[in-house]
Amino acid sequence: MRKSRIGILTGGGDCAGLNPAIKWVVKSALDERLMAERGKQYEVVGIKDGWKGLIDIESSIVPLDEKVVRTWDRYGGTMLGTSRTNPYNPGNDCSKTVIANIEKLELDALVTIGGDDTLSVAHKLSKEGIKIVGIPKTIDKDLCETDYTLGFETAVEVITEEIDRLRITADSHKRVFVVETMGRDAGWLALEGGESSGAFMILIPEYDFSIEKVNRLVMDARKDGTRHEIIVVAEGAKPSGGTQSICESTEDAFGHNRLGGIAEWLAAEIHRNTKIDTRSLNLSYLQRGGNPCAYDRRMGRYFGIAAIDLIAHHRYGLLVCYRNGKITSSPFENVIGRMNRVNVDTQYDVDRYNGRHTIIGKEMHSGKPE
Ligand code: F6P
Repeated sequence: MRKSRIGILTGGGDCAGLNPAIKWVVKSALDERLMAERGKQYEVVGIKDGWKGLIDIESSIVPLDEKVVRTWDRYGGTMLGTSRTNPYNPGNDCSKTVIANIEKLELDALVTIGGDDTLSVAHKLSKEGIKIVGIPKTIDKDLCETDYTLGFETAVEVITEEIDRLRITADSHKRVFVVETMGRDAGWLALEGGESSGAFMILIPEYDFSIEKVNRLVMDARKDGTRHEIIVVAEGAKPSGGTQSICESTEDAFGHNRLGGIAEWLAAEIHRNTKIDTRSLNLSYLQRGGNPCAYDRRMGRYFGIAAIDLIAHHRYGLLVCYRNGKITSSPFENVIGRMNRVNVDTQYDVDRYNGRHTIIGKEMHSGKPE
């Protein structure tokens, strides 16, 4: 009996959690007991460097089995490599080549691990009849329909650890430190990284900040006797009336500019206005590096298993999701073209420029469900 061949690729920015997901796609697909139960035999091939590996298939295919992937869940990044290649790039549409290569490689199903860009390609291919399922990953946590995207918790750990270090030097020198996090147009990394590290102020793209108010909050804190302040700012945050800081104006294949530089700008502004010694640090790619934390290993495992469950049940065009404590799935069309951003009304304190300071609503105090 011919085995069904499953291809797997990782696309977009790398992060921790990809390798655990790959490992568990492979382990779950090749599990002897499950294969007997399903009455179906699978083989799995890795596709190197994201969609690029399906445009040029010469030397981009790696057979995967339990022995190959055995230790992968301990490591960050992606053993398969990644790219920001967009087969549907209007300036260079290679989608027909991708479809032809999927046939040539006799791939019966494809698992794509990615964020909104990678999954938008999966969605288009799915509409063209390719059997695809997706696994959500992005440190930005900006995908809809899922409460978790791989890489996020590890990135929050990095932010927390680095800020713990920064506090020591900030306090010795009585300095303000402005720390920039990634996240594009979503403030989750800044918000949850800032909350985890007990930041004095958190600035997010969902709410434009007033520079006068930032200065005032810093001055007020100093009057109260603080020796240092940590201000976490998302790369996509901007002052009211201003624009996002762009560090590279050339757009990538999905039309994104590279954001960066807001922390440096803000630190200079705070120093200019308050005369307090202020420094900035952009945590940048450190947030995507390092080995996956325990949560990313577990979620990678569950997402990988769920992707094979979907394939085994012939359910395609779906993204594996985590919703209200359960692993589930959602059609690509519910995910693509939307963005999960911080809800300023319920998750942000606009007065303190920080995380919320009340959590339980009136309805819950009175015992009624929200
Ligand atoms: O989407 C993940 C992310 O790390 C963003 O937070 C960041 O803006 C972007 O990728 C950086 O992209 P690149 O790896 O192309 O520089």
